[in-house]
Amino acid sequence: MKTSVCIIGGGPSGLLLSQLLHLQGIDTIVLERQSREYVLSRIRAGVLEHGFAELMRQAHCGERMDREGEIHEGFYIAHDGKKSRVDLYKYSGGNSVMVYGQTELTRDLYEARDKLKGKVIHNVEDVQLHNLKAATPPYVTYRHGDEVVRIDCDYVIGADGFHGVSRKSIPRDVLKEYEKVYPFGWLGVLSRTKPVSPELIYARHERGFALCSLRSQVLSRYYIQVPLTDKVEDWSDDQFWAELKRRLPTEVAEQLVTGPSIEKSIAPLRSYVAEPMRYGNLFLAGDAAHIVPPTGARGLNSAASDIYYLYNALLGHYKHGDDAGLDGYSAKALARVWKAQRFSWWMTNMLHTYPDSLDYDKKLQQVEWDYLFSSDNALSALAENYVGLPF
Ligand code: APR
Ligand code: PHB
Repeated sequence: MKTSVCIIGGGPSGLLLSQLLHLQGIDTIVLERQSREYVLSRIRAGVLEHGFAELMRQAHCGERMDREGEIHEGFYIAHDGKKSRVDLYKYSGGNSVMVYGQTELTRDLYEARDKLKGKVIHNVEDVQLHNLKAATPPYVTYRHGDEVVRIDCDYVIGADGFHGVSRKSIPRDVLKEYEKVYPFGWLGVLSRTKPVSPELIYARHERGFALCSLRSQVLSRYYIQVPLTDKVEDWSDDQFWAELKRRLPTEVAEQLVTGPSIEKSIAPLRSYVAEPMRYGNLFLAGDAAHIVPPTGARGLNSAASDIYYLYNALLGHYKHGDDAGLDGYSAKALARVWKAQRFSWWMTNMLHTYPDSLDYDKKLQQVEWDYLFSSDNALSALAENYVGLPF
């Protein structure tokens, strides 16, 4: 087989890039290790920066998002028994975020690929990347049952997530990795209950962080910080709800509608960046190159800026013979990735309790939020990061 751009990974990053390029007449093939059902079974965050929402519309995939998603112009920080609202619209100069589940977003992308008869091949095994830096064009091989298939292409996009093969195809003496593992995880619950708040509530509490989020007006998403040693089977629904209530302001806890969990899982928190994001004719995008703790809801949104840069760089190559975008991709993508890393790290440090933190550290957390709500400049800095820095 032959294509122009071979994309490894059928998650949001790979599908969005494939769709955008297809609309410009640029041929792609997406190779996905799992079945579509498996990919769509993943429960992920649901806050989209306005830039990502715009990119989905540009990809002709924004119709259901605009119909079923919710525009949020603010969120709350709960601390010291009270909740304070961050007015995103006011402090970001008129921007907002879209609350729309990533599972639904990925479903929309798959349906759009089907509509255009995009080539997405599932259940591929043993994907291998070849000739990434050779004088001859790169190619990709994979196994489908007993058959080994070869795909000749101009470029390979590694959109295969943190555990994918693409980043690992870059020689170790070329790759520079930065990593920080946090000493806690998030226990998340999805429940068919009315959300406790129309806007998200990020709660800082001495017992640990908590987050009240939503997928719709009848589907709530809640998280509590837990030790890394906890297992999901250690937590009954009743224990989860009781602990969540302890970490929320009384006025909020009293309004919490509880119900059976339809999904319950524990996720570790990690910050990770791999540099460079290009190796010859291989370009990394999304979780393949970087991971953030979910505190700042930057994961999918960091992938969006990679896709935006890659899409425009490939357009430059195929439409105008201009490779400046491709040559500058890694530096440009990493510049924004690190700003998302910083914001996620800051939100995580300001909202979680650390097992070994000093009283001084705890005091500084409190002072940080007191300062933030006393300063329009500080609120503007928070808001511009949360709605999404410019691409
Ligand atoms: N071959 C083919 N596909 C692979 C391989 C491989 N060797 N390894 C992984 N994959 C697939 C995974 O099954 C997954 O569907 O690549 C896809 C990568 O998707 P994500 O992990 O979702 O990463 P990405 O598309 O970059 O999305 C970024 O979305 O996943 C959420 O919040 C998460 O921040 C993340 C964001
Ligand atoms: C979610 O709804 O899953 C969610 C929202 C905001 C975050 C993290 C997760 O910062």
